[in-house]
Amino acid sequence: MTTPPPLTPDNAQVKTLLEASAIQARIETLAGEIFPRLQEQVVVVALLKGAYVFTADLVRALSKQGAKMSIQFMVLSSYGAGTVSSGRVQVKLDCDEDLTGRQVLLLDDILDSGNTLSFAVDHLKQKGATEVLTAVLLDKPARRTTPAQADFVGFAIDNLFVVGYGIDFAEHFRDRADVGFIQP
Ligand code: IMP
Ligand code: MG
Repeated sequence: MTTPPPLTPDNAQVKTLLEASAIQARIETLAGEIFPRLQEQVVVVALLKGAYVFTADLVRALSKQGAKMSIQFMVLSSYGAGTVSSGRVQVKLDCDEDLTGRQVLLLDDILDSGNTLSFAVDHLKQKGATEVLTAVLLDKPARRTTPAQADFVGFAIDNLFVVGYGIDFAEHFRDRADVGFIQP
């Protein structure tokens, strides 16, 4: 018997999971849910790279609601052999705004094991944030290994490997307007 070739961005079959129009509609409602919880001048902290498209759309929807904010970025990386997260997270690029006494709205693309989000919340509190609200575009509750919960979730999804709308497979597919899943 021949073994199947390894899955690569070139041979991966991507099927739409969430249409671009459905994502846009959800972001508008999400902004309506988040806005009442925001203080006067919130610091939005987006985790690069995955959350860059989600952030661009959500901050403009929040702005339409009347929110006032500054926007900062962090790059975190988790160590591990292959695709398995070791649970250890490292700060590669830190948020450079003074967070002392500030409310933070932390944005990420996907809440998966929970390691990244729980690390980021602790890190931002250590930097002086008084409150860290969290919003993720996608939540895979079945994959949680670290207790973590987002205050706001765009879509709860099954345990699928997803791409598009900023999310990559080996740096491919971030430019897709929809969220697709790779067929196993
Ligand atoms: P966690 O620390 O395991 O919760 O990992 C969250 C991060 O893993 C996300 O911000 C993504 O960067 C990445 N990730 C998790 N699931 C997927 C996926 O289905 N496709 C692409 N990246 C993913
Ligand atoms: Mg990420």
